[in-house]
Amino acid sequence: MHELITYGSVKGSPGTTTWTLAMAARWPQPGPAPVVVELDAAGGDLGSRWHIHDEPGLAGLVLGARHQPLGDGTEYVQRLPVGVDVVVAPPGDAAAATVAEFAARGPAVVRELAATRPVLADLGRLDPHTPLLSYLDKADELHLVARPVPDQLRHLRARVPLLTGRCPLVRLVLVGDGPYRPDEIATYLDLPVAAVVPWDSTGAAILAGRKRQAMGWTRRPLLAAARGLALTYAGDTPARARARRTSTAAAADAPAEVTT
Ligand SMILES: Nc1ncnc2c1ncn2[C@@H]1O[C@H](COP(=O)(O)OP(=O)(O)O)[C@@H](O)[C@H]1O
Ligand SMILES: [Mg+2]
Repeated sequence: MHELITYGSVKGSPGTTTWTLAMAARWPQPGPAPVVVELDAAGGDLGSRWHIHDEPGLAGLVLGARHQPLGDGTEYVQRLPVGVDVVVAPPGDAAAATVAEFAARGPAVVRELAATRPVLADLGRLDPHTPLLSYLDKADELHLVARPVPDQLRHLRARVPLLTGRCPLVRLVLVGDGPYRPDEIATYLDLPVAAVVPWDSTGAAILAGRKRQAMGWTRRPLLAAARGLALTYAGDTPARARARRTSTAAAADAPAEVTT
């Protein structure tokens, strides 16, 4: 069984999709490559950013999952030029319909997918009434992406109990600069910080298909931050996963950064 990690935010557009892709792009080997599943009810962004078709993608997966086991989901996956396998959501309102249709079965289906490879599910905005909350019940973790600025943190604080009540491990991913230190934010929200992600316009533009990958792009600050966290999943054992859930110490004994 591999990890099922969910990614979400509570307000604004702090960089959830970008971070999810960065984690997948820098996921440690050996082992099966992760798949990013775009489950954002507000509409998929990856198809438009990369100028790829909506299918193979989420709508096909939702239909396919009705009739047969998904296996490793290969027939619904597209590989982005940054080397990441994705199941793209359709853009706009079509996504809301697809995500709503999948709300009841989806969590079990993505869990089943995680039997074959790590699944990084981009849930987009976690509003209190979104059907996407049910994915948290099946997930190993939620990475809550936020900018470390007062208005976002206040919104987040109000939402934390709902999220920690449904997911065994909720950790913060703080994107960009702000007036507070990560440890102050962790105390304020009573959540561990999984990663501090630098503002990196070039790295983000590469992951959004706006800029071509230049030599060494995987070592850009955004991608290096993702590597640091992704490596903590290397050679994951059930004991190690349990340790992540019960303490934040798992990050501390992670292997050192390896540049490839
Ligand atoms: N770490 C970052 N540094 C610079 N720009 C970023 C970073 N993360 C995201 N962005 C940019 O911010 C915008 C929103 O990012 P996106 O990942 O789509 O956010 P969300 O999924 O939360 O809506 C995009 O233009 C993206 O390229
Ligand atoms: Mg997004």
